[in-house]
Amino acid sequence: MKILITGGAGFIGSHVVRLFVNKYPDYQIFNLDKLTYAGNLDNLKDIEQKSNYHFIKGDIVDQDFVQELYHKHKFDGTIHLAAESHVDRSILNPLEFVQTNVIGTVNLLNAARDIWKENYTNKLFYHVSTDEVYGSLGNEGLFTESTAYDPHSPYSASKASSDHFVRAYHDTYGLPIVISNCSNNYGAYQFPEKLIPLFIHNIKNSKPLPVYGKGENVRDWLYVVDHARAIDLVYHQGKQGATYNIGGFNEWKNIDLIRLMCQVMDKKLNQTEGTAEKLIEFVKDRAGHDLRYAIDASKINQELGWSPSVTFEQGIELTIDWYLENTQWLDNVTSGNYQTYYETQYVKR
Ligand code: NAD
Ligand code: DAU
Repeated sequence: MKILITGGAGFIGSHVVRLFVNKYPDYQIFNLDKLTYAGNLDNLKDIEQKSNYHFIKGDIVDQDFVQELYHKHKFDGTIHLAAESHVDRSILNPLEFVQTNVIGTVNLLNAARDIWKENYTNKLFYHVSTDEVYGSLGNEGLFTESTAYDPHSPYSASKASSDHFVRAYHDTYGLPIVISNCSNNYGAYQFPEKLIPLFIHNIKNSKPLPVYGKGENVRDWLYVVDHARAIDLVYHQGKQGATYNIGGFNEWKNIDLIRLMCQVMDKKLNQTEGTAEKLIEFVKDRAGHDLRYAIDASKINQELGWSPSVTFEQGIELTIDWYLENTQWLDNVTSGNYQTYYETQYVKR
């Protein structure tokens, strides 16, 4: 079995690559990644020597390259995670999100369809997507697999578009596909532009914690290792053409989550209680900021028997410990261009 995993040097992708390489020694796992600012081969140091792991540097936007790659390797399946993934960056540069998330996905679909048509054996195309395609909830209700799409940010609009293309290739050409839409992930190797690693990094360095608006937006958090476990199940046991929502039934108002992180960090850093909270600064809200995301994950639970393996309290502690123990990783990714991006964001608010 030859599986192409795109975006495997990123946050979630690296956990998926690690799980597949370790759990399936008989599979050949190909990690295709452009190594953008978010892609980092240090995320895979522990498995890079394994004989069933292969790294390919390349850009999914490059149509000829993608075609050649599929024709050369005839992958049995694709797990597509490569994307521009940060909402704030999509507000600064929407076109880049259209290129990677929409055009890049269509390039992969074309190539996957072309090799599948050679003998119509199963060549599953699995698109790893987001709950943000469903838009924003009020105080009540959950996103189910049949919730209508209503994206608001350039990022979520590009992911919604790519989801539609994946379904269109199933309905039009018969390509075997599956899609999962997951809630907010947290854990090791997440680039510190996203809330949880950014705030761990800032608390550690006594830097301000920029809370958007009043901190009342709600997100549904899932430990990344549990997302990777779900992807494994969906890839192997998901119904072709189906969609699975993935989430931990774990909603947190941003400000409550931030206060929890501050308390845990004070203890870990041996600081007086309340030290980290003093760093909180309420700043200008994100444009088009979705109020609330919350996933109904009953389908994947009932059909595939998936449920999270850790509680949020366990996961957040494991995560904070990881960032405190891996200071070199954090220092490496927060040097260079990161500083320029972060300063731009911070000054603008
Ligand atoms: P990430 O930004 O950490 O990683 C993205 C990876 O894609 C990087 O390694 C990057 O180098 C690679 N990449 C970007 N453009 C590329 C291109 N043109 N060609 C090849 N590789 C390219 O993202 P993440 O948070 O790990 O998210 C992975 C996927 O999961 C995305 O599709 C995202 O939409 C989806 N998702 C993320 C979350 C979350 O909470 N982070 C939740 C649900 C779904
Ligand atoms: O829901 C799944 C999505 O979760 C994924 O599809 C995206 O790829 C991923 O980035 C994430 O999107 P969010 O926008 O929810 O994540 P982020 O970590 O950027 O922000 C989480 C919440 O925290 C959100 O309400 C905005 C707020 N926030 C974020 C940052 C970076 C702040 O208040 N301050 C900040 O500095």
